Amino acid sequence: MERKSGVPLYYQIQQRLIGQIRSGEFRPGEPLPSLQELAARLGVSQMTARQAVRALCDQGLMYSRQGKGTFVSAFKHERNFRQVLSFTEEMRMRGSLPSSRVLSFRVEAGSREVRTALEMAPSQKVFRLRRIRYSDGRPMGIECSCLLQDICPDLMETFDPSTSLYRHLAEHYGIQMEFTDEVVEVGKASAADAALLKVAAGSPVFLFTRTGYGENGKPLEYVKSIYRGDRYKIVQRLTRAKHDVLGAPLKA
Ligand code: GLP
Repeated sequence: MERKSGVPLYYQIQQRLIGQIRSGEFRPGEPLPSLQELAARLGVSQMTARQAVRALCDQGLMYSRQGKGTFVSAFKHERNFRQVLSFTEEMRMRGSLPSSRVLSFRVEAGSREVRTALEMAPSQKVFRLRRIRYSDGRPMGIECSCLLQDICPDLMETFDPSTSLYRHLAEHYGIQMEFTDEVVEVGKASAADAALLKVAAGSPVFLFTRTGYGENGKPLEYVKSIYRGDRYKIVQRLTRAKHDVLGAPLKA
């Protein structure tokens, strides 16, 4: 561990554990060494080790079973639909380095589609940010995010658009995307998008349309993204409802 690097210890441990999962040292379903053992191995306190493990559990990379220990989750590398994640968080969870190239960033009235999705009043405007998102320097997708101007009026002045938008919204404006609706479709990359994504024109792509809602249930962000079909896998965990849609208990 680098104690003088300024990077929090628990974060360094997190990154190391992610590396060990990626390299196959820890496999899905296998128990992790105990906190005591981890702390001793890494030369940190048990509290720091616990903080790192808890963060990985929160991110869905690991899970704890009372009295049995902590295990590596099998759902780690796939696009995780159970949590609202930013691109930056998603890439970090995979142990990759996220980066972005800004294609455009401006204030505009927004298309009719955007205005409807964000339930905008006639006078309202949006910030429209279009970026290529990279993982370890390789293009993953193109995202076009439209954010209500009213919730972050000085975004243009305060935000570096090559960094994490969700992090800035949280830190600067106290805004969290509490839940999102996401529609996934399949398409073919246009010649222009293909050139940006470095794939052949017509290559299969995922088309994501996301509406993000704040704590009060109001829509704040409307995003259209195109992700490379060869770099994504979509996995969904579904649970069986205990009641039918009218609330009556379902029999086994
Ligand atoms: C995901 C979402 C986008 C969101 C983006 C923010 O990719 N699909 O809707 O705009 O994350 O990512 P970041 O915080 O890394 O800028």
